[in-house]
Amino acid sequence: MTAHDTASGETASGGTASGVQGADAGTASELRRRVDDDFPRVVDVLSRKIALASVSAHGIGSETMRRSAEFVAGLLREAGVDARTARASDGPDAAWEVVGSCIVDPQAPTVLLYAHHDVQPVPDPSRWDTDPFVATERNGRLYGRGSADDGGGIAIHLGALHALGDGLRVNVRVFIEGEEEMGSPGFIPFIEAHRDEFQADVIIVADSGNWSADIPSLTTSLRGNTTVDVAVRVADHPVHSGQFGGPVLDAVTLASMLISSLYDDQGGLAVPGLDSQAPVGGLQRDLDEASLRADAGLVPSYRLAGTGSLAERLWTRPSATVIGFDAHPVDGSFNVIADSARFRLSVRTAPGQDPSEAQKAIAGFLVAHAPFGAEVTVEPLENGRGWAMDPDALAVRDALAAMEAAFGVSPVNKGEGGSIPFIPELQRIFPAAQVLVTGPEDPKANAHSPNESISLSGLRNDILAEALLLDALGRGRRD
Ligand code: BES
Ligand code: MN
Repeated sequence: MTAHDTASGETASGGTASGVQGADAGTASELRRRVDDDFPRVVDVLSRKIALASVSAHGIGSETMRRSAEFVAGLLREAGVDARTARASDGPDAAWEVVGSCIVDPQAPTVLLYAHHDVQPVPDPSRWDTDPFVATERNGRLYGRGSADDGGGIAIHLGALHALGDGLRVNVRVFIEGEEEMGSPGFIPFIEAHRDEFQADVIIVADSGNWSADIPSLTTSLRGNTTVDVAVRVADHPVHSGQFGGPVLDAVTLASMLISSLYDDQGGLAVPGLDSQAPVGGLQRDLDEASLRADAGLVPSYRLAGTGSLAERLWTRPSATVIGFDAHPVDGSFNVIADSARFRLSVRTAPGQDPSEAQKAIAGFLVAHAPFGAEVTVEPLENGRGWAMDPDALAVRDALAAMEAAFGVSPVNKGEGGSIPFIPELQRIFPAAQVLVTGPEDPKANAHSPNESISLSGLRNDILAEALLLDALGRGRRD
């Protein structure tokens, strides 16, 4: 590796940047110092962001979402980005997006930084140990809804831009989305309508996470997602459970039988037409069962479902979850056979499978397995594609080197069971762009659940890694 002059002219002082393409130890230690100095401010703005409670499920086009977008745009302007809020489309339900750019040199590479400012709802605050919308620091983690998903992604971009300051040598475009948790209905049309503004050589999507707070990762794959609503009907009206119970099964039982028919004896999904694949790029390290149990808070007696590596089961094979079930509430129930029941099934698909094919397979299976000939109707809902990283993208090497320098340990590649459906769409619109999926989450982050949190040491290193990466991309490859 070649040595370079640092922008600041400082002498190298024990930085850990030996692996970074194009950066040297002096630049790395200077960037580290700048990240550290700025970090209390980053935590403060993340805390203020959490307090805005930007739940897109309560209204994508709401005043709350507008305020959140304005807040983020203001922070980006402080970081030197020419940023504004924009509606994704016309109409009151259009999302409040944040777009911005900082063009330093038309000849330099351009990097698009993505995160989302909307957060998941909090259906039951009583399940939280702290107020979900008051950022609370405990044991090195900051708790609050959206602290990790994806306030942390915004914090990474802001922190990295601040650390680089006038030393930024890449052109930066920023898109902070306001409707990711709602499936991004307006995002891709917006990008397509403003294609020229978002053209980039590298796209950094900071909406995933690391192996752990101490071990960084690039995300090598994401699962796709398909959702269906299923109605099970046994009669045209509810009937007395003593008078008809026996030959006539209630619709909730029938729906439960239908759901269990999706699984084999080992708890693996057994639906023909749902693809599986091996971990993308090979499995560097499998997940550890004890940590998974602890992170998910499983009851000790629970046996994990399915077979094969945990990595495959979580990242590259399909899974199904009943995310909603309409049945009579227990309180106030009485002796009656329910004539109908309804549930919503959210299916994660292998990264390479077209989710609409998976949807057809699952819908066909459910109708064909109607227990006791009950009437089963399936309403198809959204499909979102999965994604697999191009391991040969040059930026992948730069990103891994930057992570190694920032965290002081080698990155461990990981797949992800969650979905970010717009990534393949972005890839389609900008086929030459190298997409890097990073982010602040870790297995303890509890994204979408009570007690969501972000590791503060992880966030600090994520910021440094992104600053080092942007620096390396700006210097170009020297080998
Ligand atoms: N950040 C998540 C995706 C994710 C989850 C990445 C876990 C890494 C670990 C993202 O915000 C998300 O929740 N996406 C949705 C997409 C859905 C609305 C189609 C998901 O995965 O449910
Ligand atoms: Mn997210």
